Amino acid sequence: MPLYLQKELPQGGALALWRIEEAENWFSSQLSLSAENETELAKIAHPRRRLQWMACRLMLQKLFPETVNVYKSSSGKPSSKHAHIAIAHARELAAVLVHPTLPCGVDVELIEIKIQLIAHKFLSEKEREFINPNTYLQQLYIIWSAKETMYKWYGLGEMDFRKNLSIHSFEYKDSGELSGEIEKENFKSHLKITYEIHGDYVVTWMAQKL
Ligand SMILES: CC(C)(COP(=O)(O)OP(=O)(O)OC[C@H]1O[C@@H](n2cnc3c(N)ncnc32)[C@H](O)[C@@H]1OP(=O)(O)O)[C@@H](O)C(=O)NCCC(=O)NCCS
Repeated sequence: MPLYLQKELPQGGALALWRIEEAENWFSSQLSLSAENETELAKIAHPRRRLQWMACRLMLQKLFPETVNVYKSSSGKPSSKHAHIAIAHARELAAVLVHPTLPCGVDVELIEIKIQLIAHKFLSEKEREFINPNTYLQQLYIIWSAKETMYKWYGLGEMDFRKNLSIHSFEYKDSGELSGEIEKENFKSHLKITYEIHGDYVVTWMAQKL
């Protein structure tokens, strides 16, 4: 099985990444899904989305059997009875993060040029100022991915990425720690997010008390 990475996190819990190379019928032969999860899969029409969904469920089933049966909140946040779960996928890379006690978030992005078209939707003036022009694309993706991770950790939806989520200044490396804030109405929290570059992909994740 092309499990690409599996690691225990310093704050507890574990992260797993899968590089999708298999066909849908292989995943079907490996998965045993609850009726609710079968219904959710049946609603996904796009072939690549189906593979991504199945790769995430297979990682959960094989590596974290305590997470069997994934439930979704009204905002779409996944959870299970016995652990906190976060899910992400981009092209051929699928990720799951499982933590026994702490809410968590994970995100994967493929680094490509098109992000510049939507940068104004998530990048604040302060963030724009600290980005180094030599590592512009990488830092842009790290910030975007970190904000998606924060959004998933928070889990309640309804977030303005530019106004409610912020990332503090950082220098680009292949991997590192970021700090950031969520500020929305009465909710305020300081967050630590980890990132790693894996080839053309950036992966970000976090697990901490809500
Ligand atoms: C929900 C959202 C985070 C998903 O991101 P995406 O890039 O489309 O997809 P990803 O692969 O990163 O993540 C998908 C997973 O997120 C999880 N997810 C969906 N909604 C979620 C939520 N509210 N909280 C936590 N996790 C959520 C799901 O498990 C999903 O995987 P699954 O369908 O296989 O179960 C994103 O679509 C979104 O709505 N973002 C906020 C809106 C926004 O303003 N974004 C862009 C600013 S430029």
